[in-house]
Amino acid sequence: MSDAAQYRALVGDLLTWLRQNETPQGAWYWDEDPAPVVEPPAKEAVAPKAPAAPAATVSDAAPDSPDDDPFAAECEAFVAAAMERIGSHRAESEALPGLEETAPPADPASALDALRQEVLPCIACGLAETRKNVVFGSGSARAELMIVGEAPGRDEDIQGQPFVGRSGQLLTKILAAIGLRRDEVYIGNILKCRPPDNRDPLPPEVLACEPHLRRQLAIIRPRLICCLGRVAAQTLLRTSTSLTRLRGEVHFYGDIPVLATFHPAYLLRNPAAKRDAWNDVRMMKALMEALAAADPGRGA
Ligand code: URA
Repeated sequence: MSDAAQYRALVGDLLTWLRQNETPQGAWYWDEDPAPVVEPPAKEAVAPKAPAAPAATVSDAAPDSPDDDPFAAECEAFVAAAMERIGSHRAESEALPGLEETAPPADPASALDALRQEVLPCIACGLAETRKNVVFGSGSARAELMIVGEAPGRDEDIQGQPFVGRSGQLLTKILAAIGLRRDEVYIGNILKCRPPDNRDPLPPEVLACEPHLRRQLAIIRPRLICCLGRVAAQTLLRTSTSLTRLRGEVHFYGDIPVLATFHPAYLLRNPAAKRDAWNDVRMMKALMEALAAADPGRGA
């Protein structure tokens, strides 16, 4: 990329970031996407035209009435198909050893804390030599949604917390846009230690680290896992299928349903993908609600 193009991309990113920070809680600034013009139903065709929405936000893009929302029908069809798939998968499959075969802990918060203490001194792979901190994960031990990223970056390595850098700030906004706080979900990564120069995780590192993730999942027992980005999704699901094909379909880790969407770092570099990401997270939220309605006993 030329210097000028790099400079333009940087300024564009900065503007997007600033605008995202200005949007109110629950709304998400969509850089280039104007709010969709919602045509009034035919019977209201004589009503005066509503003025155009001034800014494009998540709340603009998510009208209250499902009748006004062209995405609602797609979302409903996705949830119906996903629930059917989840039902048949559960009927057919054996739970992954180490996940559902163990009894749920009486006190998940203490169990997770004990696991954290066990994992902090981990030296199971070479990343132990270069990391500053083990980034175990953060959030509720009773979370219904577990977010899984790739691996800690520079900021996370320094602070020992997942998703605290720029992409973490966008993740916080994405969650807020579907009514979730970070402390209501659980946020973790495939790898608990930063790979040097943020390179992709290596197979032996994934192999060494996965038992920690499985034990976290066995304690938290989320209703749903959401993988952020290609590397997290392909690694967790052990597939080479592209993220494009993984998105919009329900997959499984043991018997836990898994969805995949873009990594927030990718969204910062490619704001045009935010509209698709917004659809992904709305589908995720709708699926969470359907799973909760089907099994109301499993409260957060
Ligand atoms: N990117 C990730 O995948 N995980 C983090 O924790 C931070 C950035």
